[in-house]
Amino acid sequence: MTFTDRRDYIRQTYATETAAQKKARESLTDPNDQISIHPEDGRFLQCLIHLAKVKTIVEIGTLGGYSALWMADALPDDGLLTTIEYDPRRAAIARDNTKHEKKIKIIEGDALTVLPQLSQDGPFDMAFIDADKLQYGHYLDWAEENIRKDGLIICDNAFLFDAVWKDGPVDRVRETARRIMRDVNTRLADPEKYHAILLPTVEGMAVAQKRF
Ligand SMILES: C[S@@+](CC[C@H](N)C(=O)[O-])C[C@H]1O[C@@H](n2cnc3c(N)ncnc32)[C@H](O)[C@@H]1O
Repeated sequence: MTFTDRRDYIRQTYATETAAQKKARESLTDPNDQISIHPEDGRFLQCLIHLAKVKTIVEIGTLGGYSALWMADALPDDGLLTTIEYDPRRAAIARDNTKHEKKIKIIEGDALTVLPQLSQDGPFDMAFIDADKLQYGHYLDWAEENIRKDGLIICDNAFLFDAVWKDGPVDRVRETARRIMRDVNTRLADPEKYHAILLPTVEGMAVAQKRF
C-alpha cells in the first residue's frame, strides 16, 4: 500500500465533496491556482470545528474559496468565517463560488493591513493560516493576540514543500521562508503555550490549541 492508496481511500470514504466544493475546485483552472487544501484536509478542519465548538474563524488566504466552503459547512447557523485574499482575480472567483453561503465573508486586501482592523471584532475561535509563507511569523503574532484561550491556530504548508527539515538549497524555497516556518513550528510546539502537533498531511498541517 502506498501513500496515494491511503489518501485515495480516505478521500473516498471520509471526505466526499459537496457539489459546491467540487464546483469551487473545478473553477480553478489556472495551473498557478492548484494550491487549495485537499478534501481530507477540509474534512479534518470540519472535525476540529465541531470538536472545539468553533463559531468564528479567520482564514488568511482565500484563493477560490475551497477551504472556506469546507469550514463554513461545519459552522453553526450563527457562525462566521472571515477570509482574506489580496489577489482581485482570485477574490472574484471566491465571491462567485461562495455566493450562496451566508456564513462566509470575503475581505479583499493584504492580510497584513486587514488583520489589525479585524482585531476589533475578536477574539475569534480559530485562525486558519494559508497565505504567503514569508509572513507566517506575523500571522502567528496576530493569532496569538486575537484567538481566544482554548481556541485553535492552524497553519497549512508547515512542511514548506519538504524544505523545513532539509539543510541545503531546495528548489523555489527561499532560505528566509525556511527560517520563518521552522520558527513558527518551534513556537507552536511549545507545550507551555499550546497543545499542538504537526500532522503529516500532504503539505503538513500544524494544529495548535492555545493554552493562554
Ligand atoms: C494556498 S492559497 C489559499 C488556498 C485556500 N486556503 C484553499 O485551500 O482553498 C494562498 C492564497 O493566499 C493569497 N495571499 C498571499 N499573500 C497574501 C496576503 N498578504 N494577503 C492576503 N492574501 C494573500 C494568495 O493570493 C493565494 O490565493
